[in-house]
Amino acid sequence: MKIGILKELKNGEKRVAISPKIVKSLIDKGFECFVEENAGILAQFTNSDFEESGAKIKTNNEIFELADILVKINPFEKEEIQMLKDGQITISQLFHLSNTDRIEEMTKKGVSAFSLDAMPRISRAQDMDVLSSQNNLAGYKSVILGANEIPKIFPLMMTAAGTITPARVLIFGVGVAGLQAIATAKRLGAIVEATDIRKETKEQTESLGGKFISVENNENEGNSVYAKEASDEYKQKQKEAVEESLFKADLVITTAQVPGRKAPILITKNQVEKMKNGAVIIDLAAEQGGNCGYSKLDEIVIVNGVKIIGISMSPVSVSYNASELFGKNVFNFLVHLTDENGFKWELDEEITDGTLITHKNQIRKH
Ligand code: NAI
Repeated sequence: MKIGILKELKNGEKRVAISPKIVKSLIDKGFECFVEENAGILAQFTNSDFEESGAKIKTNNEIFELADILVKINPFEKEEIQMLKDGQITISQLFHLSNTDRIEEMTKKGVSAFSLDAMPRISRAQDMDVLSSQNNLAGYKSVILGANEIPKIFPLMMTAAGTITPARVLIFGVGVAGLQAIATAKRLGAIVEATDIRKETKEQTESLGGKFISVENNENEGNSVYAKEASDEYKQKQKEAVEESLFKADLVITTAQVPGRKAPILITKNQVEKMKNGAVIIDLAAEQGGNCGYSKLDEIVIVNGVKIIGISMSPVSVSYNASELFGKNVFNFLVHLTDENGFKWELDEEITDGTLITHKNQIRKH
């Protein structure tokens, strides 16, 4: 089968869905790979890197013409959907719940569209999960960005001129990004505290050397992976539990999300106004509405000397690693979906069922 790897159209995007190393693995599995000219250039991968791995470099038109499977990172744009042909297979993120018009167009075109962001959170799907692989890098990068923004160093340092006390970092949401942020801030020597609505994250925080701020909660019992939306009672208790740490923090990183919903506000405007002058909030949930009342997507807002940075695409800033991991996720997904005869179309299988959004002119997921 012929795989076409498209150049991303989204503004600011630097990643490519498949790296040269993954091209080689796909060819070993019997796929043919066509890569759009300069698709990997912003992730350090040149056309000749891809050619050396066995791919053929093609124009955008040629890829749409030749490929059985079209792969990219971001949702297909309207102009790309127009070029799709009946029976083609697409693999990308689609965010289908908020892109219903595009899904309808793809359905009319007769394509089978898989959405990587709809991957079920089950252990056998872990190595295909792009949200995990990219959020892990986002967690790391948020700490590096924060370290650069605050007017302090992270570690305790004893010098002839005096002792420097460590910076204080507070993390909201101990999922994939939050855990990596804890580990990274700890390695740099900060005092790290974290909180999450899911109880099992206490042990995970402590195992990385962080202090967990517990909030009394019976609401997420029995659900270890998906967070539910917090009640007003929980929100009030959480507000009280974190305030002491919030008002002392130098850097706050927020990552809290509830799948399929707007991100919860965990730091109110009123709380920001009581934070330390010079403190920085990095809001990784900004694209989903943000965890801070002042967050604005891809903007820096300064209130009373507190800088609030809302970022959407931090894995983009480490586009080389992000592309490698994304590509490996896609490779594992393709291996899962196919056998020596091509696509298996096991529509009842959990991973196929969860990710296949349109098939045979039907919308399967709304
Ligand atoms: P996420 O991006 O949906 O949310 C981030 C964190 O915010 C979560 O830990 C969530 O509990 C927390 N949160 C939500 N509302 C909150 C609130 N009001 N206050 C405080 N915290 C709040 O989560 P992510 O990073 O995708 O992962 C969550 C869990 O799912 C992790 O344990 C992860 O290991 C697991 N996971 C498993 C996968 C698999 O098995 N294939 C794939 C992806 C994640």
